Amino acid sequence: MTPDPIKARLLDGQALAVLIQQQEIAPQVAAFVSRHGRPPGLAIVLVGENPASEVYVRNKLKSGAGVGFRADLERLPATATLQDVLALVDRLNRSPLYDGILVQSPLPKTLGADAAQRVYDSIAPEKDVDGFAPESVGRMVQNRPALVACTPSGIIELLVRERIPIAGRHAVVIGRSDIVGKPMAMLLLHRDATVTICHSKTPDLAAVCRQADILVAAVGRAGLVTKDFVKPGATVIDVGMNTLTDLAAVQRMYPDGHPRLARFREKGSLLVGDVHPEVADVAGALTPVPGGVGPLTITMLMVNTLRAAQTILSTPR
Ligand code: GUN
Repeated sequence: MTPDPIKARLLDGQALAVLIQQQEIAPQVAAFVSRHGRPPGLAIVLVGENPASEVYVRNKLKSGAGVGFRADLERLPATATLQDVLALVDRLNRSPLYDGILVQSPLPKTLGADAAQRVYDSIAPEKDVDGFAPESVGRMVQNRPALVACTPSGIIELLVRERIPIAGRHAVVIGRSDIVGKPMAMLLLHRDATVTICHSKTPDLAAVCRQADILVAAVGRAGLVTKDFVKPGATVIDVGMNTLTDLAAVQRMYPDGHPRLARFREKGSLLVGDVHPEVADVAGALTPVPGGVGPLTITMLMVNTLRAAQTILSTPR
């Protein structure tokens, strides 16, 4: 009989997020309030009624209030025009109540293909807590002080605090989005990793991924990363947030009798990552979904908002 494989160490993003928010951010927010007489302010813009966005936005607002921010939701109906969104951002840019502005993506398709870019271009750079505006991206690429996209910076935070070495290691990033893949690759490069970026046209994806000491999956395809993608002992970071509603798809990831299959039958849907659960038998360390990268993304939003507030109030007008 073959012995059971050694299971990967689970990197608990939820626990780290609670620690950073409660022990590091909240006290700094309290100091900010006593110094400036008001809390850091975060405005979140939600256009339309995307169910996943509703959940993410609720979590961001809850964490914001939890660390002591003023965190407000600005809603626009799905019928809003691009001009409506730009007018709202303009009002928030000028408002002294808000230090951070986040426009939740995706925007409704009816706003047009270039809507996200137009909207992110319009956010005042000093309030760009998502790090999506061109000035923020440019500064980040040059490794200058910048507001950096929250998911990749949360992943770096996790790797550093879990003492996973980055310098000199080979990092492979699957996915080339502006929100995760590209900034992730750049941040790993700044920490002296050798970085490969893979995407839908990469031949023999599994073979490239097998070279990784650190493998980051950010493609949005449930269970894409299987055992054969992973070098034994590698660190695997799962950025996927895929909601499965099809039993056959869930069964491809979890065997009969698995508690997550029972959860699917109860709820009719299941949140899964891009990494197949079988990877736990090969990887050295692995982030779970949920409870891995997601809570750290929100934590970095808190870090960015506090930083934006400190910068805004220390800059003479
Ligand atoms: N949608 C998915 N992730 C994000 C994010 O980090 N920021 C915003 N604004 N929208 C998102």
